[in-house]
Amino acid sequence: MKIQYQLWLILSALFLILSLGIYAVVGSAYQERLQSGYEQIAVTQGLAILDELTKAYPASPKRSSGYLQKYGRQLQCRLILLNAEKKVFADSFNELATNTALNLAVLREERQVSYFLQTSFGYLQYTLLPFTKAEGQGYLLMIQPAASLEAQLHAFRLWMLQAILLSLLLCFLLSYAVSAWLTEPIRKIIAALKQITPHRRSFTLTYRRRDEIKELIVAIKKMVAELNFYDENQKRFLSMSSHELKTPLATMQLILENLPYVRQDEEKFQEFTADLSFQIKKMKQMVEQLLLMTKIHGITLQKQALSAQEVQEHLWQSFQHLAEEKQVSLKFALEQTTFYADKLLFFQALDNLVANAIRYSPPGKQVKIMLKTTGNFHLFSICDQGIGIAEKDLPHIFTPFYRADDATAWNQEGSGLGLSIAKQIAELHQGKLTVDTVWQKGTCFHLQLPRESNKNVTLNQSS
Ligand SMILES: Nc1ncnc2c1ncn2[C@@H]1O[C@H](COP(=O)(O)OP(=O)(O)O)[C@@H](O)[C@H]1O
Ligand SMILES: [Mg+2]
Repeated sequence: MKIQYQLWLILSALFLILSLGIYAVVGSAYQERLQSGYEQIAVTQGLAILDELTKAYPASPKRSSGYLQKYGRQLQCRLILLNAEKKVFADSFNELATNTALNLAVLREERQVSYFLQTSFGYLQYTLLPFTKAEGQGYLLMIQPAASLEAQLHAFRLWMLQAILLSLLLCFLLSYAVSAWLTEPIRKIIAALKQITPHRRSFTLTYRRRDEIKELIVAIKKMVAELNFYDENQKRFLSMSSHELKTPLATMQLILENLPYVRQDEEKFQEFTADLSFQIKKMKQMVEQLLLMTKIHGITLQKQALSAQEVQEHLWQSFQHLAEEKQVSLKFALEQTTFYADKLLFFQALDNLVANAIRYSPPGKQVKIMLKTTGNFHLFSICDQGIGIAEKDLPHIFTPFYRADDATAWNQEGSGLGLSIAKQIAELHQGKLTVDTVWQKGTCFHLQLPRESNKNVTLNQSS
């Protein structure tokens, strides 16, 4: 059921309960007030005639009934005198024999009271007036029809019922308007959301109230903006990667087209095929990195305990030849500690940083790999004495495919994806990748890994 109707139903039910409550409370208060008025009248009337009525009490029941009949006619009621034991002494209707015991609730009282009872004769008022004479104690019982009280009560109830029905009707309409007003923003949000298509992703809605709906609208707007940003990035990434892949392909095509012309020249032929193989290797590397980049989002980390020793062995095996070839010395200063990370991914990030450090260093320089454990994190630092990064390039080096102008001269195979991948891997581990650099002096990359959150060996996360 629509929220609007749910609200309407709830509000109407509340009004209904409230009205019934008012009806019950006001009705009973009115009845009480009315009855106490009637009681007072009856008691006053009874007291006024009591002296005369009891003149023959307890000497003669016969004479007493004479008085009772006279006043009974006057007041249009039945009068019964009772003796000290509350048994009939005389009756204005002359129906009850002397000493008859009556079974009436009002007779259980000792004080002066007035009762209203619904009987087979209609609504009746019973009034009991105790009296004391020198000759003995007794009671006067007055039984009067209370039809006018009943009629008054009935009329009042009817009036109340009409008033309540009318107000209920008004409340019904009012709660419909209120629920429509309250849920209107939801309908607007739905309408605005329905406008969003894969081709048109915008969410426009002006809303003035400051409430949860406002927060919801802000959150949706933020989400749409993020989706658009992500989409833009995807598009840019796709176009850049196609462009980057096209370059080696075009070179390869050129080489292949010229290959028949150099068939006779052994030296040229060798050179061409070597070029071809280089381009293929470069392309393969780039495709591998692209695959890794697309996979990295939503990957499940397989964390395991890794020691500093393992890191050093891995890096030494992977890079000793490259370092020798580039005449760069590799130095390790790793604090002996254990940390938790996804081995494959984490080594990939370190490899990218170390490969850069070696490749962007002139011969004779040193690359130092350090690990320090401080309060809350492990800090890996890869420092070189290489070409450094110019200030204008610094903000962009983590952007996919970005390469500084002078980078190609130092590293022809580069694709500009290495740092972006390393940064994403660091962030997947809830860590950070930062850089310190001095142009033409050297660069330090710091990969920071939190300590505590890595205790669970396998953690599922997606980012
Ligand atoms: N250690 C370093 N020293 C100097 N410049 C670096 C270093 N590491 C990265 N860079 C710069 O950052 C750019 C991006 O690095 P990266 O993403 O690894 O791509 P690639 O190495 O394939 O060019 C490089 O092209 C280079 O300009
Ligand atoms: Mg690189």
